[in-house]
Amino acid sequence: MTPALLARLLSGEGAALLASLPPYDEAAAFSLADRLRTEGFDPDLVAAALTQSRLRARGERKFGEAARSMLFTVDGLEQATRQQVGRLHARRLSDSGSRRVFDLGCGVGADARAFAEVGLRVAAVDADEVTSAVADFNLRSWPHATAVHDLAENVSVPTGLGARDVAVWMDPARRTPGVSDIQGRTRRTFRLDQLAPSWDLVRELCAGAAAAGVKLSPSFAHAQIPPGTQAQWTSYDGEVVECVLWWNDAAWDPGRSAVVISGQFAHEVLERDAEGANPEPARLDRLHGYLYEADRAVIRAGLSGALVRRVDGAELDTGVGIVTSPRDVIVPWAKKYAVTDAIPFNIKALRSWVRDHRIGHLTIKKKGASVDPAQLRRQLRPRGDNDATILVTRVNGAQAVLMLMPVR
Ligand SMILES: C[S@@+](CC[C@H](N)C(=O)[O-])C[C@H]1O[C@@H](n2cnc3c(N)ncnc32)[C@H](O)[C@@H]1O
Repeated sequence: MTPALLARLLSGEGAALLASLPPYDEAAAFSLADRLRTEGFDPDLVAAALTQSRLRARGERKFGEAARSMLFTVDGLEQATRQQVGRLHARRLSDSGSRRVFDLGCGVGADARAFAEVGLRVAAVDADEVTSAVADFNLRSWPHATAVHDLAENVSVPTGLGARDVAVWMDPARRTPGVSDIQGRTRRTFRLDQLAPSWDLVRELCAGAAAAGVKLSPSFAHAQIPPGTQAQWTSYDGEVVECVLWWNDAAWDPGRSAVVISGQFAHEVLERDAEGANPEPARLDRLHGYLYEADRAVIRAGLSGALVRRVDGAELDTGVGIVTSPRDVIVPWAKKYAVTDAIPFNIKALRSWVRDHRIGHLTIKKKGASVDPAQLRRQLRPRGDNDATILVTRVNGAQAVLMLMPVR
């Protein structure tokens, strides 16, 4: 979409057209476009309005009902922080004493909206003209928040004693401009030297601000964490969605940490929670009781030790994130299973187990093991009335299979 077309979409005729569209239905989109063109609407305007309608429907996954009154670009929606996660960013900056935030590379303004919602004054910029206009539209409910078309490089962020309440937020683009997939989304990059704005600028601006946060890929390497910052891996519904580096007043617990969002709750795991964890790995002949599987954000943060400590157990293998313990403990950021059996990985023995227990419905999980679950299922030939869940993993360096029952 061009800036001119966006302006038309937001003006009288375009805005009325967008507001008149029914809830998006992929199957009816083609005939609807046809009808609108026949009624005399300009084809470009019809295409732009229908694209917004489609993106709003898709955006509900991230923003719920609010998406129905937002605008998006294809890339902007893809890269936008989901509402619940943005609200955590906003609370963090606000609780760090910030009252103003410079959002440098604001995309369609998802984080900026969350900042505005908690009362922060927001000055947002984006290098892309249409994207910045879309962000400004998405901020229209908050007079203390604006987005303009500019480069982060051109913004002079106040620093020093007079700027104790000024925060910087950055969510650099991790896309390779000019390389698009079939849906028009630009290709992702995982390299720090391909961030836009650059990694150098990010570090300079964040280090100089009273409080700052920068959202990076969940694959961010532990070795790259700048001294004194807090690296926080966040998962939403079991998927690790980001690693945010918090700087200065926003780095409450420097080092590695994880935030696990499940439902309305967010649970934080810190490096100190893992200190002094039992380093002894588990033994296959002593697997009994319960098995705890740490959330992926905790594993990415390298904090499985926190689970070992919490359940007073032993990790199956270093870094695998699965811990055995005879104790029945509630851990909101781990899944819990009862272990009913554990054997070394051996197809013949496993096939006998499946046959003897008349397992017809078999769930195969794997963690840290090199097996193909589909192929293993064919080899095991499950037949019978019973259900079972097995985990193929490593126990103290050797492949093993654990028979599990989920526990609430
Ligand atoms: C990942 S998106 C931001 C998403 C945003 N946090 C949200 O939740 O909607 C990154 C944005 O940075 C912008 N950008 C890239 N380089 C920039 C630069 N040098 N200055 C300002 N913006 C830039 C891109 O146009 C893109 O919209």
